[in-house]
Amino acid sequence: MKANYYKKVGDYYDKDAIDFEHRYWENDTLQRIRQSFREHVRNYNFNSALEVGFGPGFDIVHFAQTFPNAKINGVDISAEMVRIANENIIHEDLKNARVKQGSVEDIESQFPGERYDMIYVFFGALNTVNDLEASIKELERLLLPGGNLVLTFVNKWYVGGIIIESLKGKFVRAFSRLKKIWGGYSPTNFLASKCYSTREVKSSSTLSCKYQRGYSIFFPAWYYRGIHRRLPNKIRLFLWHLDSKISSMKLGTLGEYMLYDFQKKR
Ligand SMILES: C[S@@+](CC[C@H](N)C(=O)[O-])C[C@H]1O[C@@H](n2cnc3c(N)ncnc32)[C@H](O)[C@@H]1O
Repeated sequence: MKANYYKKVGDYYDKDAIDFEHRYWENDTLQRIRQSFREHVRNYNFNSALEVGFGPGFDIVHFAQTFPNAKINGVDISAEMVRIANENIIHEDLKNARVKQGSVEDIESQFPGERYDMIYVFFGALNTVNDLEASIKELERLLLPGGNLVLTFVNKWYVGGIIIESLKGKFVRAFSRLKKIWGGYSPTNFLASKCYSTREVKSSSTLSCKYQRGYSIFFPAWYYRGIHRRLPNKIRLFLWHLDSKISSMKLGTLGEYMLYDFQKKR
């Protein structure tokens, strides 16, 4: 069953890979959020990092360039994403980055015996794992003492989205994240995923969460392109900064996206 599920996730992302980079470079909200994820990871000086679900490898390439003395490994379930990321790594002539195909369960066999002082997941791979608790436990096992797990998730309680979709009369879509299975972002291409609340993520880990923040609390989510187009730039900036101010408070847990930083004791 697990293999069947991962086959479907891999197939979905094989197709998604075709114009993934192009779509990303057209969306400045995604770029802002990634920048913030990266800044958080860059707070730490790591020697050995692992990325789960690297897509075309934006961050593998970025961190391999920013930390030339660090080793960066990655796994991704999609063969096509692995191929593209590998091309990008070769294009940038990076000798400190390696990518392999697989999910969390395959990391040990793909990179036997390797342990990490930084493990990060940007934009969604943990919303499509077979068992979140088992996956986080495995990542904790691969983490060196003192190391950090920087995990990001599509959030369950995106209240702004519930309000916007309800105002449009799209009630099924408004509450779709609260269901056991969420169909993913695309209204036409179903991807069985799960959205998690802050309580669910934290109770899946045995480590202490030293930082958390939300994104797109008042700033419209990345896929509300029409709203972004209509808002004057000043207002967008104001909303982005407002979000940054409240992102670590209780209100922050109602954003579209969440970042959690768990640290393993030395
Ligand atoms: C939305 S994309 C994000 C890609 C990249 N992290 C980024 O920020 O651009 C999600 C990626 O995670 C991968 N993925 C999804 N589920 C996964 C899983 N269970 N294990 C490993 N990779 C997974 C997908 O193949 C895809 O490349």
